[in-house]
Amino acid sequence: MTDNSATVQCDNLASNCRGLPSASRESFLAVMGRIFSLVAIITTDGPAGRYAITVNSATSASADPPIVLACINRRSPLYDAIIANGVYCLNVLAHGQEHLSDCFAGRPRDGAPFDFTAAQWSAASTGAPILTGAVASFDCALLEQHDIGTHTAFFGRVLEVREAGVVPLIYGSRLYTRPDTAA
Ligand SMILES: Cc1cc2nc3c(=O)[nH]c(=O)nc-3n(C[C@H](O)[C@H](O)[C@H](O)COP(=O)(O)O)c2cc1C
Repeated sequence: MTDNSATVQCDNLASNCRGLPSASRESFLAVMGRIFSLVAIITTDGPAGRYAITVNSATSASADPPIVLACINRRSPLYDAIIANGVYCLNVLAHGQEHLSDCFAGRPRDGAPFDFTAAQWSAASTGAPILTGAVASFDCALLEQHDIGTHTAFFGRVLEVREAGVVPLIYGSRLYTRPDTAA
């Protein structure tokens, strides 16, 4: 087993972390980067404008009531926009939408980064863009937010769910693929 023990001390995130060792950023990123996860495009629209970025930090937080979360870097323009608009939509990508993942991660294969014309969209009841062809879309009202390290966890109360019944996209080890068990 690799020894990822600590070279730095834990930040003062909470009193129970003080003085404890911390895994290094490098070992953390190396291991997390090898773990396959879903890929989603989180969108928002409203008074602050329309924005979208690619995330793999989205997950379910609660079923009763339905709540999802996604962690967004506070340097992203989406961070301010979600707070101002008070809504977002989590669009879980389908296998075949790799180019959209790259586009909304700011590294398009062709064309301009963050270009909404690269895909087709419709408006959710909140006004947030729903991506056509996504595996699932979760239209959310912003419920709570928690700053954590460089990111903020945005908890969204799910107002509406849509599902397309298509094969999901997964990402790990810098590769896009599909789950083996997917039909
Ligand atoms: C597969 C993948 C997952 C990502 N997950 C997140 C995430 O969960 N949260 C986040 O803030 N940024 C995430 N990013 C990075 C943002 O998409 C990207 O940094 C952002 O769009 C800004 O791009 P820029 O650094 O070129 O300005 C992810 C990128 C990729 C390719």
